[in-house]
Amino acid sequence: MKTIVLFVISYLIGSISFSYLLTKVLRNEDIRNHGSGNAGATNTLRVLGKKPAIAVLLLDCFKGIFVVWIALWITNSPFIAVLCGLIAVIGHNYPVFYGFKGGKGVATAIGVFAASAFLPSLIAGVIAIITIWVSRFVSLGSIVFLILTPFFMLYQFNLSLEAVSASFLLSMVSIWKHRGNIARIWSGNERKI
Ligand code: G3P
Repeated sequence: MKTIVLFVISYLIGSISFSYLLTKVLRNEDIRNHGSGNAGATNTLRVLGKKPAIAVLLLDCFKGIFVVWIALWITNSPFIAVLCGLIAVIGHNYPVFYGFKGGKGVATAIGVFAASAFLPSLIAGVIAIITIWVSRFVSLGSIVFLILTPFFMLYQFNLSLEAVSASFLLSMVSIWKHRGNIARIWSGNERKI
């Protein structure tokens, strides 16, 4: 029962879209009608600029950290914690508050991974930043981060195989949302930063 309640709370927290809220407050517009149409930090950078984008990145990231912390505090299980993170990412991508049309879950995934496996996330994060710096594609860096982190987690011996498997699933959920980006990178039409 406790776990079910945690899952529901994780989904509801994940469903809070800071890019949507900030664009509504600052511009009275729906971010999903602008730029890439994605409710996330990268599109906030296009639509609102640097400072709001950093705020969205940190707040969306904190959603992931928060659900992992709460789950660890209540259950003491890294597996349940990553599952709650996965559900928060699903909430971010398919939010109940905004017609199930949300973002791609990268910032929230960063929070989940950083709170459950800091060093693997840090190393993957550095490689992702270099990827973005070289390619100018945030989406490519995001995908690199999502692929690498669960692989690096395999070397963190205090993490169970279940927790690492849940991390792979989380990455797949977020990468699935990037299929438009992948097609655009392939055809040379992806937006650069
Ligand atoms: O975090 C989402 C990013 O990877 C891509 O966003 O707006 O370029 O589709 P966007």
